[in-house]
Amino acid sequence: MKILVIYYSLDGNTKFISEKIAESIGADILELKPKKELVPASGFLRYFWGGRQAIMGGKPELESLEKNCADYDLVFLGTPVWALKYAPPVNTFFSNVKLENKKIALFCCHGGAPGGTLNKMKKRLAGNEFVGAIDFREPLKHDKEAEAKRAAEWARGIAMN
Ligand SMILES: Cc1cc2nc3c(=O)[nH]c(=O)nc-3n(C[C@H](O)[C@H](O)[C@H](O)COP(=O)(O)O)c2cc1C
Repeated sequence: MKILVIYYSLDGNTKFISEKIAESIGADILELKPKKELVPASGFLRYFWGGRQAIMGGKPELESLEKNCADYDLVFLGTPVWALKYAPPVNTFFSNVKLENKKIALFCCHGGAPGGTLNKMKKRLAGNEFVGAIDFREPLKHDKEAEAKRAAEWARGIAMN
């Protein structure tokens, strides 16, 4: 079974979890990279602009994808939570790439209020089989190693089925 971990990450939390998942099951990994910076590097305005883009359904242009998703049987897809939903680069991905008949496992990183992010992703991925969903609260700030272990165990449980 070919496995791909796809993610977007602004501050490194989702990247950290994605890399742990990929390492633990020997999966390929694909980062969604916007062509331009989406938000200011710091300050309150980054939440304002980022949240606004998420709410308005923004679709920032992405660098071309280095993997062909059609080649994979199982896809792990991870996002940071922005304004209680998936981040705009993931919205672009949903519009540009049609995933069908895949096994899909979803994960997100958040600051304590994930809202319905994972369910909102499921709606965009109708036509696939959902095999797992998990969330992490800013793992780089809260017991990084324990969260890495939790991510790896979760991923192994899915990949072995
Ligand atoms: C624009 C923006 C909006 C955010 N909105 C939420 C939110 O609605 N709920 C929440 O729990 N955390 C929110 N956060 C916090 C991030 O989800 C959290 O820090 C996450 O771990 C970031 O992942 P990353 O390091 O992979 O970018 C927001 C962060 C940003 C930058």
